[in-house]
Amino acid sequence: MAFLDWSDILSVHYRLIDADHKKLIDLINRLHDASVNGDSHAGATNALKQLMDFTKAHFVHEETLMRKTAYPQIIPHKIEHDRLTKQLEDFLNRFESGQAGLSQDTVVFLRTWLCDHIIEVDIHLGRWLAKFEAQPAEVPEPSKNA
Ligand SMILES: [Fe+2]
Ligand SMILES: [Fe+2]
Repeated sequence: MAFLDWSDILSVHYRLIDADHKKLIDLINRLHDASVNGDSHAGATNALKQLMDFTKAHFVHEETLMRKTAYPQIIPHKIEHDRLTKQLEDFLNRFESGQAGLSQDTVVFLRTWLCDHIIEVDIHLGRWLAKFEAQPAEVPEPSKNA
């Protein structure tokens, strides 16, 4: 059993977003392995950077979908993304400069953040996108003068 396993509870029922979340879970598991195995500073930095880069790419994917479909909750959703991105960047800077270590608390925080965000925030986006795609193309109203 991994530190964090994928399960249906984490599905937002939108394939592209689920695929990104599965990759994020892999990267969090890799970071957890680096912390428990006592990887070198370079190895742990590499795991953190991979998580940072993919987290940013994933947020761009979601925000692009939100903009394309005029998602009503884009602002509060993006605030959550920006807050985590800033926390990750700050942590990475402190880790690289030797001011912070890669503790279990940090990895548990990331796991909790991801699961809570998926279950409480991304799920609504998934439902919106599924509904948006299910809508038939708009049919013009028949002319009243016809
Ligand atoms: Fe997400
Ligand atoms: Fe999100």
